[in-house]
Amino acid sequence: MPFDAPTPDRKDGQVLPIIGRGLVLERAGRRIIDNVDLAIESGGISIIMGPNGAGKSVLLRLLTGLLNPDAGSVSWAGRRPDRTRAPSVGLVFQKPVLLRRSALANIRYVLRGAGRAERRRRAEQALARAGLGHLARSPARMLSGGEQQRLALARALAPDPDVLLLDEPCANLDPAAAGAIEALIRDARDRGTRIVLVTHDVAQARRLADDVTFLHDGRIVEQTPAASFFDKPSSSAGRAYLDGRLLID
Ligand SMILES: Nc1ncnc2c1ncn2[C@@H]1O[C@H](COP(=O)(O)OP(=O)(O)OP(=O)(O)O)[C@@H](O)[C@H]1O
Ligand SMILES: [Mg+2]
Repeated sequence: MPFDAPTPDRKDGQVLPIIGRGLVLERAGRRIIDNVDLAIESGGISIIMGPNGAGKSVLLRLLTGLLNPDAGSVSWAGRRPDRTRAPSVGLVFQKPVLLRRSALANIRYVLRGAGRAERRRRAEQALARAGLGHLARSPARMLSGGEQQRLALARALAPDPDVLLLDEPCANLDPAAAGAIEALIRDARDRGTRIVLVTHDVAQARRLADDVTFLHDGRIVEQTPAASFFDKPSSSAGRAYLDGRLLID
């Protein structure tokens, strides 16, 4: 391929694969993450499911390098997680964390490297993609819950990350807002961003998943292509979860 050929749909693989090996996290005398192995490689949408308290949010923080494991390791493309490459690894938290600024300024803030005009253009484009162009000047924290979720997602997508980890981005959203988030996720996937999504919404997981990782009590009990998880989960915990019978002790 010629040197300067445009490759808009291909990520450079700077941080992929993200691999967690033998991950352990203990807090207050409890194993929250218990010997987890996980690889996030190129392409597609992985869904992480599991009951409340299973360790899903903690696992995302370990994979993004926000938390250090007590044992085991995380590597990005064979190296230690490097927060200076953080724009390549986006994370949208379970509760959106927005700055006390306008919606547009929240996005501009994460595009620090680019020049002023370019930052503005990209921030406006990211807002428009999320259907929030009309709210550009509104204070971010005054937006509705669903709008804040979409803004948090738009902000995570603006640097065009290689990998995006989303922690229940549709909790408390109405069906239209959830649909808008799903469209953004699909669009990012189609543009080459690797997606990891934590959701309790089985219908949404069925619509989006390429593969499913099922976490229970800090352990991975299933990791399988989506169809086999939803049609025939192999673990009793996975079956009970899908049937709404999984109770936490
Ligand atoms: N810093 C901490 N200190 C003590 N316990 C913690 C800490 N962080 C997380 N935990 C515990 O670890 C467990 C896993 O938490 P986590 O937030 O990952 O659950 P989750 O699978 O995301 O659940 P949910 O579906 O409710 O979001 C919980 O029991 C939580 O109380
Ligand atoms: Mg969580």
